Amino acid sequence: MKLRTVRDLVPRGLKILLRVDLNVPLSAGRVTDDNRIRSIIPTVQWLVEREARVAVLSHLGRPDGAVLDALRMGPVATRLAELLGKDVPALMDCVGPDVAHGVDGLAPGGVVVLENVRFYAEEEQNESGFARKLSSPFDAFVNDAFATAHRAHASTVGVTRFLPSYAGLLMEREVEVLSGIRDNPRRPCYILVGGKKAKDKLGVLTDLLPRVDGFLVGGGVAFTFLAAQGHKVGASVVDANLVGTLRDLLRKAKEGGREILLPEDVVVALELKAGAETRIVPADAIPEGWMGLDIGPATVKRFAAVVKGAGTVVWAGPLGAFEHPPFGEGTAAVAQALVSSTAFTVVGGGETGEAVEKLGFAKRFGYVSTGGGATLDFLRGKSMPALEVLRIG
Ligand code: 3PG
Repeated sequence: MKLRTVRDLVPRGLKILLRVDLNVPLSAGRVTDDNRIRSIIPTVQWLVEREARVAVLSHLGRPDGAVLDALRMGPVATRLAELLGKDVPALMDCVGPDVAHGVDGLAPGGVVVLENVRFYAEEEQNESGFARKLSSPFDAFVNDAFATAHRAHASTVGVTRFLPSYAGLLMEREVEVLSGIRDNPRRPCYILVGGKKAKDKLGVLTDLLPRVDGFLVGGGVAFTFLAAQGHKVGASVVDANLVGTLRDLLRKAKEGGREILLPEDVVVALELKAGAETRIVPADAIPEGWMGLDIGPATVKRFAAVVKGAGTVVWAGPLGAFEHPPFGEGTAAVAQALVSSTAFTVVGGGETGEAVEKLGFAKRFGYVSTGGGATLDFLRGKSMPALEVLRIG
């Protein structure tokens, strides 16, 4: 896939609408994981050094068209200013006369952050009038929001009808690295999948099955798989609607010679609470009333052995309730195995990225993608609307 990129643009003096994905976790008005902000710095610097006037636009959370003070972009602008080492004002809107005025008043190389674009319901509806309003103060559009490239929204697709449009440097890099993994991974290639929502992962696993050598399954999704194998899973969270479909997936994997490794043992507790009493039990014998909250040590050992012999491992989703100690031990141990292996290791997804960052391992992975759903959609070969509109080959 070849994209039209900022390298094809002479940005000097132009007013640029720069769409990024700064959908970052916040706590008490501060950004708690700034990886997505750091990852757009090369594109912002590139434009600033060439004396463009840059308005940074993102969504934050899912406000569904309502204006929510907790999801304003102010804290994100503060962190971006710290990283750029320059003043970056946050405007109170993303369309309208104040935006036009604010952008007109920018000096060459100046940067502002526009307000959360999802404060308008028209954004997710990809409403044409809204896309026109977003575009009107600008001369060109640069999209660096890889993590939102699977969404056809006004600020990712709609605006490209009104402005000459280019991919940013992060978008270019994500597409380059992930294309290599999708089209020509070093074998054997495994997907290490965890996280809570089995429903979100199902389509992804079904599409990825023919492309990979196997899946290693931990985290919340593992319990729906275990239920599909006919095991009793106690009080563990199971998506009952998916049990039949997962049974089909397990059968298809077997017929196609693909491995789906499920936990052999799990850490269980009566409640999800830091410091709760825990037991390690076989995954097919979870006692009534107990819930699985992490993979157990035998599973860690097995997953570590597979990772050791792998050519590529893509990791999407923590393997237990890592934010509540002691249920983060499985995630930490497998992360250690990944960074010690010779496999090309890729991390995708906000939660996994956060876990890896907290463990201090981020720099030891082959590649940390900023995308969650977008990365998995890309790897399974799904068409990405925001990339299609920037494509030149
Ligand atoms: C993400 O965090 O994966 C992206 O920002 C997309 O967010 P969304 O799932 O709310 O569209």
